[in-house]
Amino acid sequence: MQVTYYGHSCFLVETNCKKLLFDPFISFNELAKEIDINSIECDYILQSHGHADHIADAVAIAQRTNAKVICNWEIHEWFNKNGVANTHPMNTGGKWQFDFGTVKCVVAQHSSSLPDGSYGGNPMGFVVMNGEDNFYYAGDTALTLDMQLIPNWCNLKTAFLPIGDNFTMDATDAITASQFIACNNIVAMHFDTFGFIKVNHEQVVEQFDKAGVQVKLASVGETFTI
Ligand code: NI
Ligand code: MN
Repeated sequence: MQVTYYGHSCFLVETNCKKLLFDPFISFNELAKEIDINSIECDYILQSHGHADHIADAVAIAQRTNAKVICNWEIHEWFNKNGVANTHPMNTGGKWQFDFGTVKCVVAQHSSSLPDGSYGGNPMGFVVMNGEDNFYYAGDTALTLDMQLIPNWCNLKTAFLPIGDNFTMDATDAITASQFIACNNIVAMHFDTFGFIKVNHEQVVEQFDKAGVQVKLASVGETFTI
């Protein structure tokens, strides 16, 4: 699978000939100034929760690309009210088979409200399963024992985990998470964007190295293959 990092927790993942965009927050991200959101093409937008640092560019990109937005019920209603009709509502514990694979929605221990203050439902993570590229996108979350359920459903090729601390897990908890989910190939997210979540890259890499877990701290705009 090919992955492009657009900063913070926003990734474009290409799998099974489809382009999946996760948590688009780009034009308000100081570190992603080089990225033009109008250059991004996608077939789906997967929205983990309603916080502005995840959803800020979602309406604009959804309207231009007509990508189908996969999100919880409350965010689906918010999208519909904000001029995005092509949505697929889900909720934690549910799964659905799309043309790129099956998406299972999992617990994220966090909160979720929308930029206008309306209720954002419960935050979620996504497990995407299609045999070839099984991966877990954790969204914003604390370390949680629920993660131990994921290996019952599939063998993960990779997982996108927050490491920035303060609002989510830190690197130490992300290493424990990688053990819970039985996945040795981690893509880090939710770091450096704001003062609260700045990390020391060398320290993080060393920590993961010591634990025998591969970690990728991508540069904004970087495309890589997993
Ligand atoms: Ni959040
Ligand atoms: Mn966040």
